[in-house]
Amino acid sequence: MPDDQKYWEKVRSTIKKVSRSYGFERIDTPIFEYSDLFMASVGEATDVVEKQMYSFKSKGGDMLSLRPEGTAGVARAYIENGMPNLPQPVKLYYIGPMFRYEQPQAGRFRQFRQAGVEIIGDIDPIYDAETINAFVVMCRELGLQNINVEMNTIGCNKCRSDFRSQLLRYYKPRAAKLCRDCKRRIKESPLRLLDCKEEKCEQLKAHAPNLIDHLCEECHSHFKSVLEYLDETEIPYSLNPHLVRGFDYYTKTVFEVFLEDEHIADGEEGGNEKTHRRSKMALGGGGRYDNLIRLLGGKDAPAVGAALGLDRVIGAMKQQGVKVPPLYKPDVFLVQLGALSKKKCLKLYEELRQAGIAVAESFGKDSIKTQLRAADRDGVSLSLILGQKEAIDGVIIVRDMASGAQETVPIEKVIKIIKDKLGK
Ligand code: HAM
Repeated sequence: MPDDQKYWEKVRSTIKKVSRSYGFERIDTPIFEYSDLFMASVGEATDVVEKQMYSFKSKGGDMLSLRPEGTAGVARAYIENGMPNLPQPVKLYYIGPMFRYEQPQAGRFRQFRQAGVEIIGDIDPIYDAETINAFVVMCRELGLQNINVEMNTIGCNKCRSDFRSQLLRYYKPRAAKLCRDCKRRIKESPLRLLDCKEEKCEQLKAHAPNLIDHLCEECHSHFKSVLEYLDETEIPYSLNPHLVRGFDYYTKTVFEVFLEDEHIADGEEGGNEKTHRRSKMALGGGGRYDNLIRLLGGKDAPAVGAALGLDRVIGAMKQQGVKVPPLYKPDVFLVQLGALSKKKCLKLYEELRQAGIAVAESFGKDSIKTQLRAADRDGVSLSLILGQKEAIDGVIIVRDMASGAQETVPIEKVIKIIKDKLGK
């Protein structure tokens, strides 16, 4: 909506600026792809693919899906466009709409926008830290406070298979106490048991084994290095051993960026007491995906990336009262009176605009009072009044909106006079 555009402009320009300054280049992938791409990368048994994808058959009989996330398309584009032959890693960023069939609610939409960064072609843990760092910097430059990053590692195929058996040993005897989805997860994707937000599953989760205790040597040292790099920056993070994230492509490091705010709300039943409520909202998340490029038919290219939910970022900016400048703030208002004057106004408007003066108008209104009221509303410091007589005499009235003082000046000098008055 128009009122929101100043936030979008600020968010887009900040993301572009920070991404470029960290060496990311822009990529735009198609909004829809073959459904198979998402099934293979995000995973067939994941909620996003199973329940939330907008899929349709094209006239030619292809199964296509609106992209639910950006990583799969970027990975495909990397393979198909010769990027493995570039110096590695290849660092890419994107901004665009994603689609998930979800129950709409605050901060959860069926069409939402993400900004993502992907670093493809290097396994060095410093890139995990750089990705997180770039994201936290973006949030900070957007004026957001109370950001925290939750960190975990989900290991590699080697350590995960051992951990899976441990999990099953814990969960199987307790299966009756799990929610319906988790009963299915025991069979299909046990790791995701740790991701469930249902109250009864949360309780069981508290005593479940942690993957961090079952990591192989390589995954252990990778995670340790990521945390050491983060310690060198001032990124606030905490460990969350139950963070697993919902996509199949992740390996090793996973993280989520949270906004942790305290709200002061009115007491219940209209009482005067204020209650303090803490809220926690995921602004973004990501992790390593060392096997995805190979899985999609490319050469071995370990990678790491993350995406920010921009609708949520803007919600957070509004919630925290971040001030954003208006997109257009007119300096002068052009008031016209009479047919001849109105005829001259379009051209004059353009001359003012070309001279770098921000102009506003209300050409459809004939009364001077209405037009000056509109000028007041726009908050301009000067109005230019061109009446019938002024149009004939080749002059124009310059009105100072604060004092109400008016002077009549030759029309050919008006641009210079205004520029002097505005200090431009
Ligand atoms: P994700 O955690 O699914 O990760 O999404 C990232 C962010 O997108 C979420 O934290 C949230 O802010 C926002 N988001 C997700 N669903 C919705 C929705 N329905 N409405 C509004 N905002 C939403 C990914 O998508 C991965 N591709 C991130 C990644 C990049 N991993 C590696 N590279």
